[in-house]
This record gives sequence, C-alpha cells and structure tokens, in this order.
Amino acid sequence: MAPWSPNLVVRSLDLFFLFIIILLFLLCSSSCFAASGEAVALVKWKDSLDMNPTTHSLLRSWNLNSTNSTSHHLYNNTPCSWVGITCNDFGSVINITLESSNLKGTLHNFNFSSFPSLLTLDLFDNSLYGSIPSHIGNLSTLTYLALDSNNFSGDIPSQICLLTNLRFLWLESNYLHGFIPPQVGMLASLELFYAHSNSLSGSIPVSIGNLSKLTDLELGLNKIAGSIPNEIGHLKSLTFLYLNDNQLIGSIPLSIGQLKSLIELSLHDNYLTGYLPDNICLSGKLRWFAAGFNSFKGSIPKSIANCSSLLRFSIEGNQLTGNISEEFRIYPSLDYMDLSNNKFFGELTGNWGQCPNLTMLNISNNKISGRLPPELGKATQLRKLDLSSNRLVGKIPKELGQLKLLYILKLNNNSLSSNVPAEIGIMLDLETLDLAANQLSGSIPMHSEHCSKLLHLNLRDNKFSGHIPFQIGNLHSLENLDLSMNLLSGELPLELGRLDKLETFNLSHNNLSGTIPSTFKELISLTSVDISYNQFDGPLPNNKAFLEATLEALEDNKGLCGNNTNIKICPIPKENISKSIIFLVTMSISCALILSFVVVGVLFVCKNRERHMDEPRQTEMTVTFFEALGHNGKKVHEEIVKATENFSSKYCIGVGGYGSVYKTMLSTAQVVAVKKLHENEGAATKEAFESETSVLTRARHRNIIKLYGFCSHARQSYLVYEFMEGGSLEKILSNEVRAAEFAWTKRINVVKGLANAILYMHHECCPAIIHRDISTKNVLLDDEYEAHISDFGAATTLDPESLSWTPFAGTFGYSAPELAYTMEVNEKIDVYSFGVVTLEVIMGKHPGDLISSLLLSPLLAVDALIKDVLDQRLSPPRGRIAHQVISIAEIAFACLQQSPQFRPTMKQVSRKLSTPLESLSEPFHMITIKQLFDSPTWTS
Ligand SMILES: *[C@@H]1O[C@H](CO)[C@@H](O)[C@H](O)[C@H]1NC(C)=O
Ligand SMILES: *[C@@H]1O[C@H](CO)[C@@H](O)[C@H](O)[C@H]1NC(C)=O
Ligand SMILES: *[C@@H]1O[C@H](CO)[C@@H](O)[C@H](O)[C@H]1NC(C)=O
Ligand SMILES: *[C@@H]1O[C@H](CO)[C@@H](O)[C@H](O)[C@H]1NC(C)=O
Ligand SMILES: *[C@@H]1O[C@H](CO)[C@@H](O)[C@H](O)[C@H]1NC(C)=O
Ligand SMILES: *[C@@H]1O[C@H](CO)[C@@H](O)[C@H](O)[C@H]1NC(C)=O
Repeated sequence: MAPWSPNLVVRSLDLFFLFIIILLFLLCSSSCFAASGEAVALVKWKDSLDMNPTTHSLLRSWNLNSTNSTSHHLYNNTPCSWVGITCNDFGSVINITLESSNLKGTLHNFNFSSFPSLLTLDLFDNSLYGSIPSHIGNLSTLTYLALDSNNFSGDIPSQICLLTNLRFLWLESNYLHGFIPPQVGMLASLELFYAHSNSLSGSIPVSIGNLSKLTDLELGLNKIAGSIPNEIGHLKSLTFLYLNDNQLIGSIPLSIGQLKSLIELSLHDNYLTGYLPDNICLSGKLRWFAAGFNSFKGSIPKSIANCSSLLRFSIEGNQLTGNISEEFRIYPSLDYMDLSNNKFFGELTGNWGQCPNLTMLNISNNKISGRLPPELGKATQLRKLDLSSNRLVGKIPKELGQLKLLYILKLNNNSLSSNVPAEIGIMLDLETLDLAANQLSGSIPMHSEHCSKLLHLNLRDNKFSGHIPFQIGNLHSLENLDLSMNLLSGELPLELGRLDKLETFNLSHNNLSGTIPSTFKELISLTSVDISYNQFDGPLPNNKAFLEATLEALEDNKGLCGNNTNIKICPIPKENISKSIIFLVTMSISCALILSFVVVGVLFVCKNRERHMDEPRQTEMTVTFFEALGHNGKKVHEEIVKATENFSSKYCIGVGGYGSVYKTMLSTAQVVAVKKLHENEGAATKEAFESETSVLTRARHRNIIKLYGFCSHARQSYLVYEFMEGGSLEKILSNEVRAAEFAWTKRINVVKGLANAILYMHHECCPAIIHRDISTKNVLLDDEYEAHISDFGAATTLDPESLSWTPFAGTFGYSAPELAYTMEVNEKIDVYSFGVVTLEVIMGKHPGDLISSLLLSPLLAVDALIKDVLDQRLSPPRGRIAHQVISIAEIAFACLQQSPQFRPTMKQVSRKLSTPLESLSEPFHMITIKQLFDSPTWTS
C-alpha cells in the first residue's frame, strides 16, 4: 500500500477530529462542571430568600429542572439563560445583575466560592439585610460590586479588600457601621468608592492614599471623625470628593492642592477649622466648592478669587472675613453663591450682574455696607436674592424689577431708605418679599391688579405712610402679612377680607382707624392677628383669630368691643325702650321682611322665566372639537353616534352621577371615552356639563384628563375624552389581582401625579380651580399607571373678585368635615379629599374606620403600627421606597386635619413630596400611626 493512500488520509483525519473532540470535551467539562456548581449555588441562595409573588415570578427561570431547547448551551442546568445572569463563552457566570428586583433576604447562603469568573455582582436597590459576609473576599475576579440602597447592617468586612480587581464599589444607603477597613489601600484598581448615607465611624484610613486610580470618593452623611489624612493628596485622579455631614476635625490638608483633576469638593457640616488652603483651585477645574457650617477663618484664598470655573460656591456659617469687593471676581458660569453668616465687609460691586447664570445669591448676615448696585438687575437668572442683615444704605434700585424670575427677595435689617420703586410691587413671581427693619418711606408699593404668587410680605418697622392699598386684597396666595411699626393711617380696605389663605396678620403700631371690616370674618385661615397700638373702634369681626386674640394683640386702641374676654362686650343700643317702640320696631321689621319676600319672589319668577326664555336657544346644537379629532365637528359627531350605535348600552362602560360613559373607537383608530349626559335631568346636569367644559377647555396638565371636545344639545349632550386604559383607582384597589400588581413605586407615582394636578389647579390657574369631588372614582389611570383627574362636574373657580358659596357637591367619605356646616368653598376641601385618596392608595381600602378611630379614641391608636395598615396585598416597602411611603402617610394625615387652616396647601404638599428624603427617625416597622398623625404642621 502506498504510504499516502486516500484511505490512510481519511483515517488520520478521523483521528484528528477525534482528538479535537476530546480536547473540546476536556475544555468544556471543567467549565460546564463549574457552571452546574454555579447553578446549584444560585438556587440555594434563591431558596434562602424571603419569597414574595414578585420575587417568585422574577426568579422563575432559576430552576435546576429547566431545559431550554432554544438555548445554545450544550448542557441543561447551566444558569446562563436565567434572568439576571450572563455567562462567558465557556458557560461560566460573569454577571449577576438584579437591580431593583424587590429581593428580600440575606447573603449568608450565597456561596461566594462557587463563582470563579464573576466580574459583576449588582444587587442595587433591593431589601437585602444582615451583614455583608466576609466570604465575599473569595470573588477574586470581581470588578463591580453594587450593594447600595439595601438594608445591610454590620461592618464592612476587611476581606472586601482582597478584591484587588475591584473597580467600582457601591455601598451607600445602607445601615453599615464600624470603620472603613484600614486595608482599603489594597484595592489598587478602585476607581469609584461610594459609602455615603451609612453610619460609618472611625477615621479615614491613611492607606486610602494608595488608590491612585480613584476618581470618585463619596463618604458623606456618616459619623466619620478624625482629620482628613494628608495622603488624600496622593489621589492623583480624584475628580469628586464628598466628605460632608461627618464629624471631621482639623484643617483641610495643604496636599489637597495636588488634586489636579478635582471638580467637586464637598466638606460642609463638619467641625473643620483653620484657613481655606491657598492652592485649592490651582487646577482651574474646580466647579463645586461646599464648605458651609464649619469653623473656617481668614479670608478667601487668591486661587478661589480667580477660579473662573466655579459653578457653585457655598461657605455659609463660618467666620470668614475680608472685603467683598476685592475677594471676588467675575465668574461666568456661577450658578449658586452662599456667603451668608460670615464676617465679610466692603461694598457690593456691579460684578455680580456679570454672572449671567447666577440663580442664587445669599450674602445675608455679614457687614456689607454701601448701596445696592443697579447692575444687579442684569443677573436675570436670579431666583433668590438675600442681602438681609447687613449695613446697606440708599434706595432700592428700580432695576431689581428686571429680575423676572426672582421668587425670594430679602433686604430686611439694613438701612435702606426712600420710596420703594413701583417695579418691585409688580414682580409677579415673587413669593417672599421681606423689606422689614429699614427706613423705607412713601406708600406701600403694592398696586398690582394681577393675580400674584406672593406668600409672605413683610414691611415691618419702616416709615411707610398713607392708606393700605385695597389691591393687597388681590394677593390671593398671601399667608403672612406684616405691616406693623409704620406710619400707616386711614381705614382698613374691605378687600382684605378676600385673603382667605392669610395665616398671620400684623398691623400693630400704626395710626389706622375706623372699624375692622366685617368682611374679615372671611379670613378663614387666620391663626394669629395683632392690631394693637392703633385707633380702631367698634366691634371685632366674627372671626376665630380675632375673637380669641390676646389682650396684647388688641390693646391701645380707641374703643374695640366684642365677644372676646379681653375687651368689653359691645353695648346693646339703648336700654329703656318703651313697649310701643318695641312694637313699632317689630312691626316695621315684619313689614320689611314681607316686602323683601315679595321682592325676592318676583325676582325668582323673573329669573325662572328668563331661564325658560333661554331654553329654545339651547336646542340649537353646539359641537366643538379640538384639533386632536380634526376640525369638522359635525363629522366627528356623526361618527361618534355611529360608532356607539346611537349610544347603545353594549358600549357603555360605566354610569356616573350625571352621565353614562361609553368606550368607542373612531375611524382614526383612536379610542375615546364618551360621557353622555342623562336626558332631562334638569339644571344640575346642565350646570355640571358647563363647569366641566369650562374647566377642561382651560386646564391643561398631564395629570388632568384631556377633553377632546363636546356636543351640547337640548336632548343629547356629551363630552369626549381620552380613554384611560387602567380604569379608576377605585376599580384597581378593589380588584385583588390588579391591586397586587399595583406596586409601591406605582402607588407613589400616582400620589405624586395627583398632587401635581391639584397644585396646578389651585396655584397655577388664575382664577384657581377647586375640584370639590376628588375621590378614587374620579382618579383614572392610563396604561402606565399615571394618574389623571377626571369629572369636573362639581368644579368651581375661586374668583378673587367674588366669594364663593355653593351647595354641597362631593362624595361622602371623601369630602371635608366643614362642608357639613358651611357652603363656603375654598381649596382646603380638595386638600382633605386628597388626603383620603392618598391614604386609600397606600392602605388599599377606604381609611374611614382609621380616621374615625383617630378622632374618637386617639389613645387607642397610640401603638398601632403604620406597617399594619398598609395594603397587605403587597409585601411591605423597604429602603427608599419605605421612606417615601412614610412621608406620603405623614402628608396624608396632615391633609386630614379637621380645621381647614391647619391643613397644608398643595404647594406645601408638593414641596414635601419633592424634597429628598431624610432617613427615618426609627426603623420602618416601628413607626406608629400616632407618630405620623401628630407630626408637627409644617411651615413653608
Ligand atoms: C425538579 O424535578 C424534581 C423531580 O422531577 C422535582 O421533585 C422537583 O420538585 C423539581 N424542582 C423544581 C424546582 O421544579
Ligand atoms: C430559552 O432561552 C432563550 C434564549 O436564551 C430565551 O429567549 C427563551 O425565552 C428561553 N425559553 C424558556 C422557556 O426559558
Ligand atoms: C454586566 O454588568 C455590567 C455592570 O453592571 C453591565 O453594565 C453590563 O451590561 C452587564 N453585561 C451584560 C452582558 O449583561
Ligand atoms: C461552595 O462552593 C464550593 C465550590 O463550588 C464548594 O466546594 C463548597 O462546598 C460550597 N460550600 C457550601 C457551604 O456549600
Ligand atoms: C449658562 O447656562 C446655560 C444653560 O444651563 C449653559 O448652556 C451655558 O453654557 C452657561 N453659561 C456659562 C458661561 O457657563
Ligand atoms: C361668645 O363666645 C362664647 C364662647 O366663645 C360663645 O359661647 C357665645 O355664643 C358667643 N356669643 C356671641 C354673642 O357670639
């Protein structure tokens, strides 16, 4: 046989392939073996977790029996196709990523030795608890470890420092205590280290200086003590350094000047002392410097004075000094500057007007002298300007009126003089204007006819003279008004009675006279009033704050009387009246009464006639459709009638107070909801229709149902809205399956959406809109669980020109208690209903029983835990979510206050909802209802 016969070639090829196959098998078997060990380890951990429906369905694929034929891996039992798991080409797990997955349990059953190739372990934002096991040091290949936003406690194990490949370490927002391991310097690859918002103590380890690749170090909001180690200067790559809110002492090490890449440095709220280092902005990259609330002294270093990269600079609450006109230059990017509560002196220069992006400037409580430069008016982005408690003199420049975005202007406690320019009085976005304790004169600068947003107006202790302008009655948002210690004279304008949000009112030490207008009984939010040292006489208005005022608040007037224990009762006119006079008086009163009945009757009949005369006009059809449905109203009308088969009951999806709702699809494939009014239901239905169309054509907000159009006809009136896939809150909460899917994050979002819509109606619409019937029935959800308020049939507007009195409209169980005895409408009734709906959203059922038990027997409620009243169909919220739920519950209870004036405004509610959450005062599961219910009412 020839040595190279084809047969032999074939055989050697066979052998070659056999060899390859054996090689492949050998290669694979080790990794596949490991893979199956990984699967076992994962399932073992899964089995140790506290299972809830969410975890259960999320980790369904984590199952040793699962065989996935479409999977390209050779073996069953590899976890590579499991949710959250990624493998390398050899089938070994490299990535475990289970962010925000509602996992609950510990890591104690996680076998860290089983994952020889793991690069990423990401468990961010779950509810894992217990300590971080020291075996974590076995994950020798790990580069990315995220355990942040969980409930881990105990120490940071020193074995974590064995993870020498680690590049990213996230441990923040847990309950970790103890020291940062001194060996932290072994993590030579570390680029980012976040451990803020824990309870870490001890000092910053010196070895941290070895982390030459570190760019981002955040250790704020802990209890770290000791001084900042000099070695911090070795962190050549550092760009962000946050050590704020700790207990650091000593001075900032000079070595900080070696951090050539530093962009943000935050050291505020510590016990640091000494001078600010001279070289802090040598790199010219520093954008953010926050060192407030320490005990720094000396002046501003040169490198900062010239640091043109600065965006935010805050050093409030120190003992810094220096001449302000020399210490600071022009900063083109500057956004935020807080120098308050220091010892700066000198004059303000026009330079501040050359910071085009400046939004906040606070130099209050220093020793600034001289005049206000008119150039300040060029910093047109300013929102907040506080120069109070200084030694400023001269006029307020009219150029400040150009600051159209300004909402806080505080110039109080200076020596400003002369008239206040009219431009200041018409700044429509201003919420706080404080000019108190100056020597300002002339008349009060408030002549605006516009709706204004002013909440706090303080003109106390000046030399303002003349009358109080009646236009102050137009400041319909006003909560605090202080005009005391001026030279004001004349009578009080009746229009002030419109200030129904006014809480404190001080007129003392003026020269005002006349009687207190009886319209002041409408100041329903008033809790504190002071009219002492004036010339008032006559009866007090029938207003709680006046009737309960102290002697100090009323003394030194001419002749006040009324039902207040501190002053005399008003005299009953004449005592010795003869019977004949009484008779005459009675007679004339009855005549007058009879006459007035006749007059009213006649008027009523006329009015009714007028209405009937109006009727024929109504039979004409008005069809209005907005752009969304095309302009041809008639055609859309025909289409709607056709699509609903002339409002056939088979399209009806609900029947409400004054109409039936149909769901239908138009030829454009657009699904709409059509509300058809009940026929012949009379005036109430018509009124509801009118208020709904008038409000919804005006109110445009993402959390208010969109009205596409309406048709008004004597017999067939209807409205067309966007269709809400999710149905009403009431439906969702009463359906077991849907309620279980309605997770905490979704519920929080619904509450926020609802609050935004009401905030918009109350504070951004002018005149304000009061819904009057907010209930879970009227809050609809779209397919993404976004809330939309609907049903504005009972809505009314708060016209500043007229006081609103209307009959009851609302849903029992949701309407405010005062509606039982008053017909007066103000926006606090919506706030109450918002409170009920909000509690219902987190409790999963109507809170009626809870509310009445809190009112009737508050003592019984002392120990009831909030966790026990939350919707039990969901597992209890954890971590950040739990904080938010607590904060929402607290808001809801505040909204349920019995007296309207103690309820917050929607503005306060929304502010509270959007402020970053502080940590809870106690663990979530220990917080009682009583604690939240008694939580102090907030100031704005
Ligand atoms: C896997 O299969 C075994 C035997 O068929 C069964 O007893 C076990 O319950 C299954 N495990 C899971 C998690 O489905
Ligand atoms: C099987 O794996 C493929 C791809 O890995 C995935 O798309 C599919 O959903 C899996 N099927 C099952 C039943 O797990
Ligand atoms: C692995 O983890 C990293 C870090 O979390 C992530 O960005 C990446 O997308 C993951 N890779 C895969 C393939 O899932
Ligand atoms: C953890 O995994 C390793 C390797 O897979 C194994 O040898 C060890 O026995 C496991 N430990 C436990 C406690 O299961
Ligand atoms: C001012 O702010 C705007 C918008 O934030 C930004 O685009 C612009 O670059 C800023 N100007 C300066 C000089 O930083
Ligand atoms: C005066 O006040 C008391 C207690 O506040 C009240 O009971 C009484 O009815 C009041 N009288 C008048 C005339 O308003």
